[in-house]
Amino acid sequence: MALLSILCFPDPRLHKLAKPVADVDARVRRLVADMLETMYAAKGIGLAATQVDVHERVIVIDVSDERDQPQVFINPQLVWTSEQTHLNEEGCLSVPGIYDGVQRFDAVTVKALDVDGGERVVEATDLLSVCLQHEMDHLLGKVFVEYLSPLKRSRIKKKMLKAQREDAS
Ligand code: NI
Repeated sequence: MALLSILCFPDPRLHKLAKPVADVDARVRRLVADMLETMYAAKGIGLAATQVDVHERVIVIDVSDERDQPQVFINPQLVWTSEQTHLNEEGCLSVPGIYDGVQRFDAVTVKALDVDGGERVVEATDLLSVCLQHEMDHLLGKVFVEYLSPLKRSRIKKKMLKAQREDAS
């Protein structure tokens, strides 16, 4: 396994559209293993392949307290959303240190392949529901800060670019 580097907003590669995985083969299983290692090392609860510059529809999530329940969603499809939504306070490994509210469905049903290529249907509520919505946005090239006002977004962009310059020097 290997740690992958995580792209940071406003990197334009975060806006690429991910392609469906054609075959859940050894290459994809290695990607999943590396993404899980990277997510745990970064203390995140979810990671989309887009964030590690692989533009394929792969998500890993672990919302358990003990960090021992990895979940894999390959080619995820949203098949149902609740009518009810709520404002959820979100952060993202690609936008470190920034947290803000995003309107999300309370519950969603997602159909996906697991790491063995078998189909799974997950009825998600609470944290898993919002995490799935957040990660599926990444696969569409969307970062959560894009839901915020243009003013907030441009402040975040400036802050991120400044932090990246300081890291580089
Ligand atoms: Ni994110």
